[in-house]
Amino acid sequence: MRVPVNLINAFREGFETNLTEFLLENRLIDEKDALTQKRFMTRSVAPHVKMLSEMFNRTDGSQTDAIDTESYWTEGSNPKNRRLAYFLSFMPCNLFRVASVWAELSRLGFRWSFPATQDFRALEWGAGVASGACGILAGEKYAPLGLPPQGSFALIEQSKTALTLGTKWFEYFAQVNDMSWGARSFHRKIELTQTWLPPTAPKFHLFVMSYFLNESSNSSEAIIDQFVNVCEKHLEEEGLTVIVEPALKLQSRKLLAFRKALLEHPRVASGEVPLKVLLPCMGHQACGALAKPDDWCHEEVTWWRPGYLRELDALTGLDRKSLPFSYLVIQKTKRTLLEILPRLEGVSEKRYRLVSPSHSLSKKTSEFFICGQDGKRRARYANPVQPDRGDILMNTDLHGEPALTQIDRTTVLQDPEAEDANGDTTQPAGE
Ligand SMILES: C[S@@+](CC[C@H](N)C(=O)[O-])C[C@H]1O[C@@H](n2cnc3c(N)ncnc32)[C@H](O)[C@@H]1O
Repeated sequence: MRVPVNLINAFREGFETNLTEFLLENRLIDEKDALTQKRFMTRSVAPHVKMLSEMFNRTDGSQTDAIDTESYWTEGSNPKNRRLAYFLSFMPCNLFRVASVWAELSRLGFRWSFPATQDFRALEWGAGVASGACGILAGEKYAPLGLPPQGSFALIEQSKTALTLGTKWFEYFAQVNDMSWGARSFHRKIELTQTWLPPTAPKFHLFVMSYFLNESSNSSEAIIDQFVNVCEKHLEEEGLTVIVEPALKLQSRKLLAFRKALLEHPRVASGEVPLKVLLPCMGHQACGALAKPDDWCHEEVTWWRPGYLRELDALTGLDRKSLPFSYLVIQKTKRTLLEILPRLEGVSEKRYRLVSPSHSLSKKTSEFFICGQDGKRRARYANPVQPDRGDILMNTDLHGEPALTQIDRTTVLQDPEAEDANGDTTQPAGE
């Protein structure tokens, strides 16, 4: 995935100042230099970050375990510092991941056609501290899809404490970014195998789920009916669903199974509920990763972490310089993929996405995995400029078996910025 430079740099400086101001206002810290106090971060924040990280990674259990969400919002010896730890350490990363997905849509030419006078309605499921909702605003600021200047985000969350904080944070974040967006909070637990929204709820233009689905013990197959129902009844025509989930093997596979269950759902397959998977797959082909029991699919982005997060990572042994995640973007539309993502012009059978890093075999030749209409392939490519994970290969001629394919000719889809710079295609590497 190619993230624009201004988004990569967006959290490097001013973000920390804003975060500090917000945390002081909301009494999560007492001193304005708290984030740079090593003693405070070591004693009051780092242990909670480690504990949360172990819980999210299911270090002591199985990756498919559900998560006891109460334990990270309200329980523990010091719930205030635990919330602070989530806010400082996990929120900015999830925010950036969601913004990166928005940027990917932007670079592929996705645009909302939306009257500037109309209010845009979005909803984050399992909003926690509204990382996903803020990620959309950041995405729109640095890689716009043409959202109207005003709108509202409904935040649904089962933890009252997290929701209260998340609502304030979203409003603060919108304000410091000069965006006229408000938040409406709904304190409730969604039973994923039952109706997700009451019949009186309105239709939304955008659904966002950021690290939400993985917390449930329900399988993808068990919840897909209700997802299709909520999209039918409460998602506007041309509305989008953005889902970001962990890169862990089993959680990522759960998302791939969600995609499969969606595409096989009778009301989707028949076109009665017109849901289309846009990204990362750019088509409805059978999933190349799901075909093998030990495989999975994830993306990775790099950024400039805020300074305090770099220090906190050093204290906790985490390294959030690059952020892995799995994702899906689904649209309710009858339009074709090329009408929606016009930069993908060309023959779909000749289009692939790199789904692994690129390993150099020699100065000129690299090897990587690609996924396209005909599934997943190990591929070799001889070229001085080597593509990387998430890159899209256009107009690709290849030969050989899926186990080892030779790419004879291809064009790496460039981001518009690089094209504007007259062919300078250097990808800024973040830190
Ligand atoms: C890992 S947090 C992610 C929060 C936020 N979306 C983010 O990306 O930082 C998952 C959130 O989903 C909430 N959640 C999980 N299952 C839920 C459910 N069934 N109904 C409502 N909220 C739920 C949890 O309370 C938690 O706040």
